[in-house]
Amino acid sequence: MKLTDCHNFQDFRKLAERKLPSPIFNYIDGAAEDETTYIRNTQSFETCDLVPNILRGVADIDTSVKVMGQNLDIPIYCSPTALQRLFHHEGENAVAAAADKYGTLFGVSSLGTVSLQEIRKQYHGPQCYQFYFHKDRGLNKAMLENAKEVGVDIMMLTVDTITGGNRERDLRTGFSIPFKLSLKGMYQFGIKPAWAINYLAHEKFSFPQLDDFVDMSDAVMSVGSYFTEMLDPDMNWDDVAEMVDFWDGEFCLKGVMSVEDAKKAVDIGCTGIVISNHGGRQLDGSRSPFDQLGEIVDAVGDQIDVIMDSGIQRGTHVIKALSMGAKAVGGGRFYLYALAAAGQAGVERALDIMRSEIERDMRLMGAKSIEDLSRKNLRFR
Ligand SMILES: Cc1cc2nc3c(=O)[nH]c(=O)nc-3n(C[C@H](O)[C@H](O)[C@H](O)COP(=O)(O)O)c2cc1C
Repeated sequence: MKLTDCHNFQDFRKLAERKLPSPIFNYIDGAAEDETTYIRNTQSFETCDLVPNILRGVADIDTSVKVMGQNLDIPIYCSPTALQRLFHHEGENAVAAAADKYGTLFGVSSLGTVSLQEIRKQYHGPQCYQFYFHKDRGLNKAMLENAKEVGVDIMMLTVDTITGGNRERDLRTGFSIPFKLSLKGMYQFGIKPAWAINYLAHEKFSFPQLDDFVDMSDAVMSVGSYFTEMLDPDMNWDDVAEMVDFWDGEFCLKGVMSVEDAKKAVDIGCTGIVISNHGGRQLDGSRSPFDQLGEIVDAVGDQIDVIMDSGIQRGTHVIKALSMGAKAVGGGRFYLYALAAAGQAGVERALDIMRSEIERDMRLMGAKSIEDLSRKNLRFR
């Protein structure tokens, strides 16, 4: 199977599975507990059907959106994800360059493996930085100041990881950073020597966004202990309000799921919210963002940019979310499998396929621009 054999999400997923040692593939592919939320995230798009309009003169269409003050050429962006150089040695550089080429946003994770400064060389669009909130308030302030200096345009605070999700696939394989693999896990690395050679032949794995602030060297702190020892499970609305004031710019909360919280985000001055359940990786049994989108848009859609991620695999999923009132959507696995499959060329192909699906779907829907999409185009079953 080659990259040119990949025509959709499932094809990229298959190719990624062939390329990656299974503990790494399962880290991307897995979710929390019984993975019911993970499955529901995509299934929820089947609760409604599209009702197209015809004869609208759709030779020229415009797929651009403006979200959180930024102009994007396509309405889907690459959500922030951790550890990308583990999936392919080009890591964040590949995703940044591909997002740049397709005129969309790329969210850089706090647990990213390439520095914001280096990403800047590949990516000229608006910079979005995903932040985790630490117990040490001085550390938070220093990190925010650093992000300002680097020129970050959107601060995205993840609020659904107050504690780690129970990802049982990782428990079985022993996936952790640094690696503490089970015997079975080690065997899986042994049978994918191409991955191992590539990994060892490239720059040593590190967390440049954290390295200046936290000692993440192997002997000192694992990613698991970073979450339990450094991050603050007591984080509350007052803390975030202070952070929003201090940042004084585009600020969004990633992982809002209730109307009540969406209203509070408005009250403390956030400019955006991402309705997300972290791709089903945190609270299994939680509602899917698409199921929850309508009521949140109805409550706060005229006061704040409502974005959603989790479960998006197709252009039609994007069209349905935008029709419900999302300003833009994010996706994680849709580009991560492609990254694992073929680095930058893979991510470009995933974005290219997504863009052509969106363009085709808009034409078939009779929509010349994103503003033409509305709930009139949807019927719930
Ligand atoms: C492998 C992996 C790593 C992730 N790492 C982060 C992260 O570091 N920070 C964060 O806020 N979200 C992270 N996410 C969640 C994504 O930003 C996004 O919410 C999720 O992938 C959306 O679901 P989808 O994969 O179904 O599109 C991660 C997701 C995956 C699959």
